[in-house]
Amino acid sequence: MRGPLLVLCLFLGQWVCGESRDVQRQRETVTPDYAIYHNVSSVLHEIDALVSRSESLLHYGKLYESTQGRLIPSVKIRNASGISAGPHGRRIQVLIVAGEHARELVPVEWVLTLLSTALVAEHAPQDSARGKLMRWLLSNFDLTVIPLLNPDGRAHLESSLNYCWRGNARGVDLNRNFDWDFGGKGASLNPLDEEYCGTHALSEVEARALRDHLTRESFDVFISLHSGTRQIYLPYSDGISWSSGRQPRFHTDMISILRTALRLHSSQIPDRSFQGGAAHQLLDYPASGTSFDYVVGRELAPLGFAVEVYGNLSHKSDGCFDIFNPVATELPAALAVADTFMVALLKAVQMHWTSTLNTWHERQRSLPLDNQIEASAYQAPWTILLICAAILGGLVFMQRKSVLLPHLPPVTHTVM
Ligand SMILES: *[C@@H]1O[C@H](CO)[C@@H](O)[C@H](O)[C@H]1NC(C)=O
Ligand SMILES: *[C@@H]1O[C@H](CO)[C@@H](O)[C@H](O)[C@H]1NC(C)=O
Ligand SMILES: *[C@@H]1O[C@H](CO)[C@@H](O)[C@H](O)[C@H]1NC(C)=O
Ligand SMILES: [Zn+2]
Repeated sequence: MRGPLLVLCLFLGQWVCGESRDVQRQRETVTPDYAIYHNVSSVLHEIDALVSRSESLLHYGKLYESTQGRLIPSVKIRNASGISAGPHGRRIQVLIVAGEHARELVPVEWVLTLLSTALVAEHAPQDSARGKLMRWLLSNFDLTVIPLLNPDGRAHLESSLNYCWRGNARGVDLNRNFDWDFGGKGASLNPLDEEYCGTHALSEVEARALRDHLTRESFDVFISLHSGTRQIYLPYSDGISWSSGRQPRFHTDMISILRTALRLHSSQIPDRSFQGGAAHQLLDYPASGTSFDYVVGRELAPLGFAVEVYGNLSHKSDGCFDIFNPVATELPAALAVADTFMVALLKAVQMHWTSTLNTWHERQRSLPLDNQIEASAYQAPWTILLICAAILGGLVFMQRKSVLLPHLPPVTHTVM
């Protein structure tokens, strides 16, 4: 497979195969204005300032450390004095992770605005629009955010001015480093490739930090934030699932949530609608070893989504910055769109939350971790999978066409 692919690269140029383009610096026509965008150190300062100004809503969770010793904080947005328990007698526990990919700045900015909105709501009159929204959020959810999972990658991007940089300090794509079809289709074993998955599953401290956080606390919903297009993906996105049609346990719940979220959002912002579906349906490439596949596949949380909060179909740059991020003057508008979608998603989660999910969660919580991993490690031997792939091949090929909304032009760069 590699051989013919390399020949094809020689004929059609490197850009077709996407190698090196994304790990080397390109000529950028737009670069971030750091008077508006946060840089790596101001992200951490901003988080610290927000948490310290909050009296009851923002709390530091466990703090992790990156390969190069930078801080990776987790922050809990939770009304400590809140008595409302939400539907089914408990608040839904959500984990939101941003900044997995260095070049995707806009999701990190969105998480910072979420934190500052919480702070505003804490001090604003409760009948303001933001106050009401936050009160609704906090009576239904406890939100935990990891605003910047890959601070080293971001630091590298800033010092090298390589706005195409996606990996961590060691060039590993964290969203290929998780223990779910690790090294499968859509991941690369070549350290020079932008989808380099690392030497083994969870080889990177940043990926292990996320794993630790997921096992230390118990979450109902995992949301991995990205940018490069406006889409929401359901697990699974890995190569084995791509060819076998394997689906997560709560697939139908996630489909319902996704449909509702898309409908709610497009009724508010019709000209910035999102698409939804399985990642490989929408992107036309599988991605193995991703964080959201891992979380859902290993049953660390029942529901998982990857959300691409921003895309610019009319970008013309040879570089990367404006593929993944708006120009600074457009940042507030882009964040407002992301806001609407994320609220729609959380509303949809709340609407479709069932006692089944609650029950699953309670049972899962009582299992020792080893059982959780063991019980869900159902990867069949490759021979069986090959037979399954052959039988299901035709069927899956048909299914791939069934995305939930009409196709936009194909995405030509790796986003998730
Ligand atoms: C990061 O941003 C802060 C605040 O805008 C600024 O003071 C600092 O010099 C910047 N750091 C770098 C390395 O540019
Ligand atoms: C937190 O909970 C308390 C008690 O339920 C409530 O009075 C307050 O408005 C809540 N704060 C926010 C910001 O939702
Ligand atoms: C999208 O890209 C085009 C072309 O590079 C640019 O003119 C426009 O400002 C970008 N839109 C946003 C929201 O950044
Ligand atoms: Zn991404």
